[in-house]
Amino acid sequence: MKILITGGAGFIGSNFIFYMRKAHPDYELMCVDKLTYAGNLETLEPVMDDEKFTFIKADIADRKAIYETFEKEQPDVVVNFAAESHVDRSIENPAVFLETNVMGTQVLLDASRKYGVKRYHQVSTDEVYGDLPLDRPDLFFTEQTPIHTSSPYSASKASADLLCQAYYRTYGIPITISRCSNNYGPYHFPEKLIPLMIANALADKPLPVYGEGINVRDWLYVEDHCRAIDLILEKGKIGNVYNIGGHNEMRNIDIVKKILEILGKPESLITYVTDRKGHDMRYAIDPTFIYNELGWLSETKFEDGIKKTVQWYLENRSWWENIISGEYQDYYEKMYGNR
Ligand code: NAD
Ligand code: DAU
Repeated sequence: MKILITGGAGFIGSNFIFYMRKAHPDYELMCVDKLTYAGNLETLEPVMDDEKFTFIKADIADRKAIYETFEKEQPDVVVNFAAESHVDRSIENPAVFLETNVMGTQVLLDASRKYGVKRYHQVSTDEVYGDLPLDRPDLFFTEQTPIHTSSPYSASKASADLLCQAYYRTYGIPITISRCSNNYGPYHFPEKLIPLMIANALADKPLPVYGEGINVRDWLYVEDHCRAIDLILEKGKIGNVYNIGGHNEMRNIDIVKKILEILGKPESLITYVTDRKGHDMRYAIDPTFIYNELGWLSETKFEDGIKKTVQWYLENRSWWENIISGEYQDYYEKMYGNR
């Protein structure tokens, strides 16, 4: 089995490579990544010398490079993680989100068609469903919830999902789609809520909480997401969408307080800043379908997962300190300097 994994130098893609390496040591894994600001080859060091692993630096929207890669490698399966993934950046500069997330997906679908890939899996997000109101805790996202996007990021991810479904219906491309809730764990890029708050707290810097901090996200430990995708590849039905989530809704402010508690830092570091434009209020996945169809359930409790995550950031300071000492400084100043 040859699996081509795009975006494998990023957060979830790298965790997926490590997961698959362990779960299926006989599989050949190929990673295609453009190495944008979010991609880090250092992350993949543990597998770089593995003879069943190949790294290819390429842009998924570069048709020539992608066709050449498919021609040479002849993958059986494609799992597309590659994306511009940060909502705040999409609000500043939507264009690159359309180029990578929409046009890049189209190139991968065309290549999958041309080279007869047996499965194309699109890693999507619960953000395609828009948001839920805070005063309706009875409501959840199911696979039947209409697409209703808020940010340029979520609009680009929803467009990619629709393209996948169109390629399935029109050309019979064997696609599956998964829509997961917020992930956390090792190798999470420090622009995102949890690693940003850990890094700032360790430096005794202010923790910038958007608005009132009452927005709710449904957090899942990254390894649980990887296991769900592996199951979908093995047993998922072609054409299906699978929601992935572990019923772990938390308010942002409570996440931030939890991190401070684990690190033994004072709550006085919390600083409320101007809210994100169009900020989604609440995400909450109903994972009944993936449980009934594939028997998937989340395994890592948030209490354990967040402690493991904080510990990982304490033990791997050089990984994230390298990142935040470079061009990230300009990003941080631009996003938070006058907020
Ligand atoms: P990330 O930003 O950490 O990593 C993205 C990776 O894609 C990086 O390695 C980057 O270099 C690569 N990339 C970007 N543009 C590329 C291009 N044009 N060609 C090739 N490679 C390119 O993102 P992540 O958080 O790991 O998310 C991975 C996927 O999972 C995304 O599709 C995202 O929409 C989806 N997702 C993320 C979450 C989450 O909580 N992080 C939840 C649900 C779904
Ligand atoms: O739900 C899945 C999505 O989760 C993925 O599709 C996205 O790729 C991923 O980035 C994530 O999107 P969010 O916008 O939910 O994640 P983020 O970490 O950016 O923010 C989480 C919440 O924390 C959100 O309500 C905004 C808030 N926040 C974020 C940052 C970076 C703050 O209050 N302060 C911050 O500095």
